[in-house]
Amino acid sequence: VSTALILSACGKDSKTSGTENQKPLRVVTDAAYAPFEYLDKGKIVGFDVDFTNAVAKEAGLKIDIVNVGWDPLFAEVGDKLADIGMSSITINDDRKIKYDFTVPYFLSTNKILVPEGSDIKSAEDLKGKVVAVQNGTTGQEAVESLLGKNSKDVKKFENNNLAILELKSGGADAVVADNAVVETYAKNNPNEKLVVIEDKDSFAAEFYGLMLPKGSKYKEKLDKAVKEVVENGTYEDIYKEHFGT
Ligand code: ARG
Repeated sequence: VSTALILSACGKDSKTSGTENQKPLRVVTDAAYAPFEYLDKGKIVGFDVDFTNAVAKEAGLKIDIVNVGWDPLFAEVGDKLADIGMSSITINDDRKIKYDFTVPYFLSTNKILVPEGSDIKSAEDLKGKVVAVQNGTTGQEAVESLLGKNSKDVKKFENNNLAILELKSGGADAVVADNAVVETYAKNNPNEKLVVIEDKDSFAAEFYGLMLPKGSKYKEKLDKAVKEVVENGTYEDIYKEHFGT
């Protein structure tokens, strides 16, 4: 006998009935941004993945995470073809015009990745240099505000790994991207001898949120679940798993 079926017919939730009949929410990402979302033997893993799974579980929602890439993810959420954009996405005023966001879940800032011995010591030093960024990120914005919009010295790439590749091949003098991403890269690739430069005066604090279509009916549920995951210690466990401390 299916007690789950009976319970759900009575409007009661058994252990699984909350998510049983729900079509999984489509969660879109750009999985080229370790440690937040990246591919490990073809599997999408990272802090954001564990965090979002915890939030979905808390909210009683099934999700399906799909690696569509950065620009396509904005298009999909904008067109309401996807339910959640999960991609270390900074909540900012521009994006709030077109999208809704959950409450913030991560504090970040842009930092500069350069080869050891570089004469770039601050954001100001980027002037006159070639800087690689991921197209359409706050990193691009930050660099363009220093070097000028449409400056030919700002090389834009579809994903951040390609920007780092450009630095390694000598086609750029620096990469600007989210602190945890450049720090993780430098740490995991010591043979490449890269260092990370912080400039608090030039690069503002940013908060990540899960990005939702305007008017998403899941916003309230997800906000509640984000807060619960932070409060009940799950967040800290996931954080420690990916950042060590
Ligand atoms: N936080 C930055 C932004 O929102 C960069 C995020 C890039 N994320 C990614 N998965 N590539 O613009």
